[in-house]
Amino acid sequence: MNLRKIIGKDIYWIGVNDRKTERFENYLPLPHGVTYNSYIIDDEKVCLIDTVESGSSIEFLNKVKYVIGDKKIDYLIVNHMEPDHSGAMEEIINLFPEVKIVGNKMTLRMIKAFYHDFDENKFLCVKEGDELDLGTHKLDFATIPMVHWPESMVTYDKTEKILFSNDAFGGFGTLNGGLFDDEVDFNDFKAEMRRYYANIIGKYGMQVNKAISKLSQLDIDYICPSHGLLWRNKIPGVIKLYSDWGNFIPEEKGVIVAYGSMYGNTEKMAEIVAKELFKCGVKNVRVYDVSKTDSSVIIGEIWKYQGLILGSCAHDGAVYPKMVPLISKLNNYGIKNRYLGIFGNMMWSGGGVKGLEKFAEETKGIEKVGESVEAKGAPSEEIITRLKGLAKEMADKIL
Ligand code: FEO
Repeated sequence: MNLRKIIGKDIYWIGVNDRKTERFENYLPLPHGVTYNSYIIDDEKVCLIDTVESGSSIEFLNKVKYVIGDKKIDYLIVNHMEPDHSGAMEEIINLFPEVKIVGNKMTLRMIKAFYHDFDENKFLCVKEGDELDLGTHKLDFATIPMVHWPESMVTYDKTEKILFSNDAFGGFGTLNGGLFDDEVDFNDFKAEMRRYYANIIGKYGMQVNKAISKLSQLDIDYICPSHGLLWRNKIPGVIKLYSDWGNFIPEEKGVIVAYGSMYGNTEKMAEIVAKELFKCGVKNVRVYDVSKTDSSVIIGEIWKYQGLILGSCAHDGAVYPKMVPLISKLNNYGIKNRYLGIFGNMMWSGGGVKGLEKFAEETKGIEKVGESVEAKGAPSEEIITRLKGLAKEMADKIL
């Protein structure tokens, strides 16, 4: 086994690339896979920082054994109890019965919820300001509630200035050789990192800001998250990106046009809107058919661009079924700082546009642009003119 010491002489990445799992949290597609990053500090005391999802535990345990041989593990720090990181905890306890499980008060409650027979004597409860001394490495801890569960915390290695940042600064996508930000082309990872942020942490922007403000007090040379790339060269850049995402600040000028269409008329309307946006000078126009593209991809794109135009045909007197998860999530996440245009088709008796308007009213952080445009069947000349007007109003807003 050829494991890399990632930092200094005794810190290894012992995570796993998961290219098999189809869906993260059993619903978000993983076309580029995902990593479960785990780390081991092979100091006088041996310390694991998080584990991996249970389906990847064999590979993970082989890596642990490879690094430590016959030594035992003294501590397993549980920065986060979500099972993508705690899935091999039970096996670690079985293999190393003397291991201390390190977490905060809320971690313990979660452990007991997942494992009813957990022996509390195994638990070492830490709070902010406590130090865990491994010999050379001195660790301390900070809680980052709701990034992305209530018990979430980070571990800071004061010796090497490493922040083990949990889900924060992580992303979808496997690590394909290179581990650090300066060993790969970040552009290959950015969209999946944004999709991860928007769909996993996006609801908790306020808590992300609090976490960033707390962590900015630290002197950080490395950020080692629980998913995706490790950071050492682009640390200010990734913190700025996270801060902007947390504040719902779009990265670029552009418009997403997402539509649901059964037989093509609403799709035609989307095409008219997209062409007109381009004519009005919007270079970044992205058109998505909600039946074809998973809503998590569209939500990732919505985090990138400021303009959103939604189009829905009517289906059983309501919004098209494949549009529903998209607007429901955006509402739940409290999307902010976005402009919204609406169009759709009323055949036979409407409901699509009405449903989108209800979404606009109920989602306080978005500003509706122009009048909604509702066709009956194929778009008429009048409807085409109105769609072009809607596109122009959107372009004026964002450019
Ligand atoms: Fe990667 Fe919230 O677990």
